[in-house]
Amino acid sequence: MIGWLYDLAGRRVEKGELGERRHELVGDLEGDVLEVGAGTGLNLQHYERASRVVAVEPDPSMAGRLRRRAPEATVPVEIVAGTAESLPFEDESFETAVITFVLCSVEDPQAALAEVRRVLAPGGRLILLEHVRGEGRLASWQDRLTPLHRKVAGNCNLNRRTRDEVAAAGFDVAGLRPVRIPGSHPLVRSGLQGVAIKTSS
Ligand SMILES: C[S@@+](CC[C@H](N)C(=O)[O-])C[C@H]1O[C@@H](n2cnc3c(N)ncnc32)[C@H](O)[C@@H]1O
Repeated sequence: MIGWLYDLAGRRVEKGELGERRHELVGDLEGDVLEVGAGTGLNLQHYERASRVVAVEPDPSMAGRLRRRAPEATVPVEIVAGTAESLPFEDESFETAVITFVLCSVEDPQAALAEVRRVLAPGGRLILLEHVRGEGRLASWQDRLTPLHRKVAGNCNLNRRTRDEVAAAGFDVAGLRPVRIPGSHPLVRSGLQGVAIKTSS
């Protein structure tokens, strides 16, 4: 993914409703926070109370902008090159993880979520915002167009059943709710937002 293009495409909505959504999600988080697939760092400016954000990002183009943005954050940010499927952290080392618009593009959501679960403390929280598979005709179009969309949009799948994936990975998903993704085209407008809790089994 090309970092500057990603930021340019979202510039208007990030200043408005999507920026507000990010603020709502991460503004009050405390302690050490792990952000997986941090991209160009669009969440960073919205953290206000975290003692540290550890931002994992595999793509050099996205990470370049993330590095430039990190000093502007009001909380300390540590950037780590890595993937969700193989997080370079000890078991149970974070209370909170943040994932926004990433599970659509990882190769293997179950492997990624298993890793996030591993590094979360018992009862740890996964803060999530993702676009997901819709219903009816929309879902049919998402299924049809996903192969093409993956090619042109950094492996982004339009039709992931993310709520089911998160539940299957060992999280309580009662705190995840359907939302509309602000400023997006219809194919990525169905969203999922909220908090999933790591279950004990
Ligand atoms: C659409 S961008 C979202 C970036 C950021 N989270 C945001 O909310 O703006 C998707 C990000 O997921 C990252 N990504 C893709 N596959 C990944 C993986 N296996 N592990 C971690 N990050 C991944 C990409 O490099 C990209 O930065």
